[in-house]
Amino acid sequence: MRVLVTGGAGFIGSHIVSALAARSHEPVVFDSLHPRAHSGRAEPPGAEEIRADVRDGEAVAQALRGVGAVCHQAAMVGLGKDFADAPEYVGCNDLGTAVLLAAMAAAGVRELLLAGSMVVYGEGRYDCPRHGTVRPGPRIPADLDAGRFECACPRCGRPLEPGLVAEDAPADPRNVYAATKLAQEHLAAAWARATGGRAVSLRYHNVYGPGMPRDTPYAGVASLFRSALARGEAPRVFEDGGQLRDFVHVRDVAEANATALEALHGRPGGTLTPFNTGSGDPRTVGAMARQLALAYGGPEPVVTGEYRLGDVRHITASSERLTSELGWRPRVAFEDGMAEFARAPQRGAVMAAAPPAG
Ligand SMILES: NC(=O)c1ccc[n+]([C@@H]2O[C@H](COP(=O)([O-])OP(=O)(O)OC[C@H]3O[C@@H](n4cnc5c(N)ncnc54)[C@H](O)[C@@H]3O)[C@@H](O)[C@H]2O)c1
Ligand SMILES: [Zn+2]
Repeated sequence: MRVLVTGGAGFIGSHIVSALAARSHEPVVFDSLHPRAHSGRAEPPGAEEIRADVRDGEAVAQALRGVGAVCHQAAMVGLGKDFADAPEYVGCNDLGTAVLLAAMAAAGVRELLLAGSMVVYGEGRYDCPRHGTVRPGPRIPADLDAGRFECACPRCGRPLEPGLVAEDAPADPRNVYAATKLAQEHLAAAWARATGGRAVSLRYHNVYGPGMPRDTPYAGVASLFRSALARGEAPRVFEDGGQLRDFVHVRDVAEANATALEALHGRPGGTLTPFNTGSGDPRTVGAMARQLALAYGGPEPVVTGEYRLGDVRHITASSERLTSELGWRPRVAFEDGMAEFARAPQRGAVMAAAPPAG
């Protein structure tokens, strides 16, 4: 099948292109090579490529000719520099999605895979020993400044036990990027209802692996640590390093897309189904930094106590639905993935290309 992969020149998109080609699909890359994501030259993806913006309705309509499904990865990612980035996030992520969906509706393309994100949940799941599952609000600067990083029970103030979020947990986007990722899902669900289309949102966790962009305000934490190591510096771990995350390898995420694409045909029309997409093997940010520094042969991480207000404390989810309904299973173990990541080139990185020998 001919599949349009928006954002196909990006980190995750380029691995999806390879996974689809390996399954004898015909991926077509649609990517604007956004300057925030690509500093300078992008790697040739090895697939047919259209260089255009998803907000350009005419270019999208042309690109949809002969296409059976769309895998929508194009987006501005990360927390950004400051609130001034908001219009560009909303433009690329939400206006872009609306333009794409309108063109799909007109062209009769009825199958959509969306790059969702675990950021739609805000904080992860927490249990109070006395009050059961509770939803702590955003952490406040006074607590963070005092080194009180853990969320407390909103009813009794007791420490909370982090747990695994399921897809039916309420959405609680805490920053502009998160708000745009949630709006993408709502738009796609509205499109599915209006057209009878089939849509799946794969809510990725912290994706890492070869080709990850180097450190920018838009990059993920694994990339920041990897870039520090490449400069000969220790990774700087914020808070106390105890933040739980689910680090999932980019090849596993690409396989999840290929698996979900093939399962789309059999799914009921008119709805969007979300699937958490994680490794199921939560680690702390501190442990990830240590594993990566060890694999790289670089200096031990430094725990700084700094924080970013938009960050959540713990966010890990169950990816059981993706396994039980679609038969996907992550294959890359944390230690193996980090060992490979320590050696792999980063995108847009001149100085971050290779670790020291030995
Ligand atoms: N990296 C992660 O950990 C992670 C986690 C959750 C969700 N996601 C989602 O996965 C998708 C891919 O992210 P990534 O990490 O590969 O980021 P990336 O920046 O490497 O790739 C995004 C691609 O989209 C393109 N793009 C951006 N705006 C565009 C526009 N208006 N028109 C056309 N192309 C445009 C960029 O040029 C880039 O090639 C995004 O939708 C992101 O929200 C990523
Ligand atoms: Zn309580």
